[in-house]
Amino acid sequence: MKVLVIGSGGREHALCWKLAQSKQVEKIYCAPGNGGTSLVAENIDIKANDVDKLLDFAYNNKIDLTVVGPEDPLVLGIADAFEAHNLKVFGPNKFCAQLEGSKDFSKLFMEKYQVPTARYKSFIDIDEAIKGLDDFDYPLVIKADGLCLGKGVLICQSKLEAEAALRDILEKKIFGEEGNKVVIEEFLDGIEASLLCFVSGDKIIPMESAKDYKKIYDNDKGLNTGGVGCYSPSPLFTKELNQKIEEKVLKNISRGLKSENMNFKGILFIGFMIVDNEPKVLEFNVRFGDPETEVLMPRLKSDIVDLFQKTIDGSLDASDLTWDERVCLTVVMTSKGYPESYTKGYEIQIKELDKDTILFHNGTRLNDGKLETNGGRVLSLTTLGKSFDQARSIIYRNLYNISFEGAQYRNDIGIIS
Ligand code: AMP
Ligand code: GLY
Repeated sequence: MKVLVIGSGGREHALCWKLAQSKQVEKIYCAPGNGGTSLVAENIDIKANDVDKLLDFAYNNKIDLTVVGPEDPLVLGIADAFEAHNLKVFGPNKFCAQLEGSKDFSKLFMEKYQVPTARYKSFIDIDEAIKGLDDFDYPLVIKADGLCLGKGVLICQSKLEAEAALRDILEKKIFGEEGNKVVIEEFLDGIEASLLCFVSGDKIIPMESAKDYKKIYDNDKGLNTGGVGCYSPSPLFTKELNQKIEEKVLKNISRGLKSENMNFKGILFIGFMIVDNEPKVLEFNVRFGDPETEVLMPRLKSDIVDLFQKTIDGSLDASDLTWDERVCLTVVMTSKGYPESYTKGYEIQIKELDKDTILFHNGTRLNDGKLETNGGRVLSLTTLGKSFDQARSIIYRNLYNISFEGAQYRNDIGIIS
């Protein structure tokens, strides 16, 4: 079969890498892809949010299955457009994609179906919003309703900061239309963890857990990023916590998906804050995570094409997912300056790497046959190991063999505290 993967990050490289292992796959295209996806797929020069061109490409090239990486095309309704042309697509429809595309929509859903989450209120009017602050203690969290490239969440320590944040979003429109509405939320103090689930209708089948490192510097210092390191599984997910998640979270989400007739087909990525051993949902994403996918794909033993197809046709069963018992760890090399401004186009040198490492590309491109940096997150060096210590020693030994100007990475990924 011919498969099209949409996107250009490490997540998409990991998906292409995993798809390439399926005997059912003859050819993989990746639009637009990166230097790494070109090793296993043919890159197609169409942007990930150009739904019309992607549809034309899939239709004209008789693509058997399209897998959507990022959220933007899903929020734009790419799944609906493909389905309307009888093209098989893995990714939820536009209505479901609001679970990520609108914080207000997802909080309403959680409230209606008793999914444990931070207490919240949403506003479109600045004066009402400022009055609304009085119902919360500090710190509190202010979120723009829409998609803001991961920048729409502001943690405010005082009323002064909170008012300024509300004015920035609702009056100054720093996030444009995406900030026409704001959510004010109680601050949750706990440990974050990610659980990605295959969702087929009202059936929710979780994958193994993962822990993403969001801050740019060691010991969780500095600015928030898209994720600069990750491991799976997260030791937080004990049998007891898994049971609580099943009973208090997954069952309620499933009930909601059914009652609202959502017909979700794809990945629901649940961002948790674990507070005193209780799971609280911080956010939903309706897609694979990055870098979570880079540590989940190497551990997944099942044929991913089967999982995609069974999710779409409704026959997916928990027993279809089988996992490598080993842990998986990835460390992301980033460009100097990331997550703020940075320069692209530095040549990347890679000396020989140990056979048991996998190098996923996040932001690279080939220029006249030479590999160059092309993003803030550049490469994710990944390995399976018997323990996190063993995986760490493999990764950090091999990172010395990769270099580009200004390369940086955290040194504490995989230290389990
Ligand atoms: P979100 O996009 O909603 O996941 O928010 C991005 C990041 O902001 C999360 O990964 C958390 O680190 C932080 N965050 C969001 N909501 C809260 C909250 N209610 N309490 C504490 N931290 C939060
Ligand atoms: N690693 C977090 C995300 O993919 O949104």
